[in-house]
Amino acid sequence: MSGIRLLALSGSLRRQSYNTAVLTTLAELAPSTVRVDFPGLGQLPLFNPDEEGLHPQVVALEAQIAAADGLLIASPEYAHGISGVLKNALDWLVGGAGFVDKPIALFNTSPRASHAQAALRDVLTTMSGQIVERACVTLPLLGTQADPVVICAQPDWAQALRSSLREMVLVINSRR
Ligand SMILES: Cc1cc2nc3c(=O)[nH]c(=O)nc-3n(C[C@H](O)[C@H](O)[C@H](O)COP(=O)(O)O)c2cc1C
Repeated sequence: MSGIRLLALSGSLRRQSYNTAVLTTLAELAPSTVRVDFPGLGQLPLFNPDEEGLHPQVVALEAQIAAADGLLIASPEYAHGISGVLKNALDWLVGGAGFVDKPIALFNTSPRASHAQAALRDVLTTMSGQIVERACVTLPLLGTQADPVVICAQPDWAQALRSSLREMVLVINSRR
């Protein structure tokens, strides 16, 4: 059986982003049979339906989504909403078929950030993605200065992320 390809989408461009840190930790904890790639959402142009198919960065992202077995998504909440960075990327992807039935694990780095999570679930479900509930994890990272080293060293957090990866692998392999 071939390896599993996961695509990690972070809604934060902040250098010391907790959301990116969680996704980076997942990549570090992933077994050797699982590859995690990080497309740079910050380089995408602003969504304009008139320009669909015209931007190489967007075409490349669409191809990465189509080739991925599953998605790992983490977004900060800004003013009760999904980050513009992530929403912009999702808007470019709405028109394609890449999300249809794609297994998705959601990561929330702040338990109080419930509005963005709810909105994100709504958007992803509307795009026909399959949220894998048992792979979704909330960690209380806000204010902790946690980076991937700290997250890996916290047994409960590392365990929750390993378990999330296991659930994604189970779901993906069950479809093969
Ligand atoms: C402009 C701004 C607005 C924010 N609005 C909210 C909010 O409405 N609800 C919330 O829970 N956190 C809010 N936060 C906190 C961020 O979600 C938090 O700092 C998060 O860690 C940022 O993600 P990152 O660490 O991945 O960059 C806000 C932060 C900023 C800078």
